[in-house]
Amino acid sequence: MSKFATGVTVVTSVDDEGVPHSMTANSFTSVCLDPPTVLVCVAHGTHTHGYLEHRGGFGVNILFEDQEDLGAYFAKRPEDRTGSVEYNYTMTETGIPILDQSMVFMGCTVVGAHVYGDHTVYFGEVQELQQHDDGSPLMFYQSRWYHPNAG
Ligand SMILES: Cc1cc2nc3c(=O)[nH]c(=O)nc-3n(C[C@H](O)[C@H](O)[C@H](O)COP(=O)(O)O)c2cc1C
Repeated sequence: MSKFATGVTVVTSVDDEGVPHSMTANSFTSVCLDPPTVLVCVAHGTHTHGYLEHRGGFGVNILFEDQEDLGAYFAKRPEDRTGSVEYNYTMTETGIPILDQSMVFMGCTVVGAHVYGDHTVYFGEVQELQQHDDGSPLMFYQSRWYHPNAG
């Protein structure tokens, strides 16, 4: 899989107290356009899996190439997240956290879940879309961050 270059997303959810939570994910893909549906594969060992099991929605935030620090930060378990990374959330009307300043935000309602092995594939119907067009995406390739404009 390391030979497959991807973009990088942050999947947002809320914990059992309603506090926003984020996890870096690159298993995100489009499923279909009608209705607009995406999917993300979430490992059972993550906090995010627990939160998506209890809540009916999640957010997908596509990162800009200058947001590597956020991608790396949210790839750690919360207890290992150290350092001064700055970020803010705005909540949608349905209670999904938007990671401010990401390239694209998709607010999704969970419309299906398929357990296979140690992951669950969550299907999300996109209910809300926000986009900032001025920049290039962060990428992940051969287990490293990749910046398309850095050559
Ligand atoms: C580039 C990258 C992509 C990742 N993609 C996924 C993914 O698609 N699904 C997943 O479950 N974990 C993925 N991870 C690992 C999670 O980000 C990591 O396990 C994180 O600590 C989970 O956070 P949580 O337990 O707070 O939810 C990825 C990590 C990196 C660095």
